[in-house]
Amino acid sequence: MGDIADEKQKQEEQQPIPLLTPYQMGKFQLSHRIVLAPLTRQRSYGNVPQPHAILYYSQRTTKGGLLIAEATGVNNTAQGYPETPGIWTKEQIEAWKPIVDAVHAKGGIFFCQIWHVGRVSNYSFQPNEQAPISSTDKGLVPKVRANGIDVAEFAPPRRLKTEEIPEIVNDFKQAAINAIEAGFDGVEIHGAHGYLIEQFLKDQVNDRTDKYGGSLENRCRFALEIVDAVSNAIGADRVGIRLSPFANYCEAGDSNPLALGLYMVEALNKYGLAYCHMVEPRMITVGEKVECADSLLPFRKAYKGTFMVAGGYDREDGNRAVAENRADLVAYGRIFLANPDLPKRFELNAPLNKYNRETFYILDPVIGYTDYPFLEATS
Ligand SMILES: Cc1cc2nc3c(=O)[nH]c(=O)nc-3n(C[C@H](O)[C@H](O)[C@H](O)COP(=O)(O)O)c2cc1C
Repeated sequence: MGDIADEKQKQEEQQPIPLLTPYQMGKFQLSHRIVLAPLTRQRSYGNVPQPHAILYYSQRTTKGGLLIAEATGVNNTAQGYPETPGIWTKEQIEAWKPIVDAVHAKGGIFFCQIWHVGRVSNYSFQPNEQAPISSTDKGLVPKVRANGIDVAEFAPPRRLKTEEIPEIVNDFKQAAINAIEAGFDGVEIHGAHGYLIEQFLKDQVNDRTDKYGGSLENRCRFALEIVDAVSNAIGADRVGIRLSPFANYCEAGDSNPLALGLYMVEALNKYGLAYCHMVEPRMITVGEKVECADSLLPFRKAYKGTFMVAGGYDREDGNRAVAENRADLVAYGRIFLANPDLPKRFELNAPLNKYNRETFYILDPVIGYTDYPFLEATS
């Protein structure tokens, strides 16, 4: 009897943990469910991706693993942080190529997160020092940056005219085409965290009276026009979207996040996207997990395709989310940043390197970027 029980236990121990089971994401065969979350690193000097990103991303690549590149500007008004990459010029497209190639050489699947900050910007980031664009002309109050030291000042935005909006939709579409030209397998539309798309989605920011403001349908119109244009251009099976209905970053809250999120996932169902990626309600403040009664479950249930979650996950929590079918994929941000071999460490249940918040956004091409040790080096 004892032998049988021992044998059973041994077999269970040999089973891969839920996070390390394969998953078919549309046409992409993933070998596991641990995804590199999009992480802005501010090391793309002059908005051009740099050669040091080759090592950074390839360190975090596994065969059959999905990586999402850091938020990448879609046009020359998209920027609001120093040294973040773009994908609107030929030079930027060319600069991404060796980075994408390095990820592919190790068998990774690589999506580019396409981004416009909207009003989370100031004159110094804008062409001709013009005002940043937004759904609104309401400005943001200055805030301490994520490093806890610098204070970000924001310029009052200019409200986009109705007839200008298709140009911005087109910039997202062109950025997606450019990403495919650079070799990316797909794009993730950044519809989260208080940036331009969220400035339309959320009723505490959007104060428009045209067809892009007011009702839920109108506030979601801009996001869905982008989804539509990008899907038509590169194929819906290469398109993901990130949403954070419950978050309140950059003064972008909503009075009814549940209704907003449900409206969006139901509208997204008809596209057959590669995935829908949602940020946990517990990530209400930047980088801090809070106790929270809300969950992503209603969205998971309503969404018919691949569902990815992010926000405050560790090994156990991620395994539970997959085992309980609350998610197909789990994106890891800070701990993947600090543990280039995160899937390996999860497999072995090995201890993790601690992340150092102070080096998240420094410009150094090595420190806090490619110098986090691998397991072999620490043991
Ligand atoms: C350094 C840093 C940069 C980030 N940059 C982005 C970004 O470019 N795009 C994005 O959607 N989220 C960004 N995030 C949020 C992460 O993708 C992730 O949702 C967040 O860190 C919570 O997940 P975690 O608890 O696994 O870190 C960033 C977070 C950090 C810490």
